[in-house]
Amino acid sequence: SVKGCIFDLDGVIVDTAKYHYLAWKRLAEELGFEFTIKDNERLKGVSRMKSLEILLEVGGLKFDDETKIKLAEKKNNWYVEYISKIDKSEILTGVEKFLISLRENGIKTALGSASKNAMIILNNLGIEKYFDAIIDGNKVKKAKPDPEVFLLAAKELNIDPKECVVFEDAEAGIEAAKNAGMYAIGVGSSDKLHDADKVILGFDAVNIDIINF
Ligand code: G6P
Ligand code: MG
Repeated sequence: SVKGCIFDLDGVIVDTAKYHYLAWKRLAEELGFEFTIKDNERLKGVSRMKSLEILLEVGGLKFDDETKIKLAEKKNNWYVEYISKIDKSEILTGVEKFLISLRENGIKTALGSASKNAMIILNNLGIEKYFDAIIDGNKVKKAKPDPEVFLLAAKELNIDPKECVVFEDAEAGIEAAKNAGMYAIGVGSSDKLHDADKVILGFDAVNIDIINF
């Protein structure tokens, strides 16, 4: 039976994709090319440096490693400026209620995010208290689709990966969950999340029975 639920952050709990996009777009503009919202789809669930690689590929630009680190830092400073202003009102509909009812029913909860900014976001949203374990981009070495982030979450929860359910909005994240031997619930439209075991549009009016498989 299911003993724990692991949540991705960006795109599952809060729509930070729009802020990532604003910051990447600003960087692209500074470098002299356009970065569209469609291009941005490719960055979902992808690590910061890999995101930069994709952005530079779109712009047809190449830089040495030192410059790339500086560019990623610049993007991150803008991103942090944007997310420093977010509050509770940006928690996606139904998420908080869902987390509360999981815990009331004895299900452990964890965060499994690639973001190094996860703690700032959780604090601003005031939802840190709903997680028994928090694994973010500072704690892992290998990016999704590697299962490291989710396996570490299961380990901290002291639960067998087979008894974990993962909520993810990105394809790389669904793959990571499957690679961890977990049940993967996609959050979003089902046409993009083919490998998910189940797909939900969001947590609005979702009952905790959906975690049973
Ligand atoms: C999440 C987002 C990605 C982002 C990554 C790293 O996976 O979906 O778009 O690039 O986290 O985030 P960070 O805040 O560390 O740059
Ligand atoms: Mg995500």
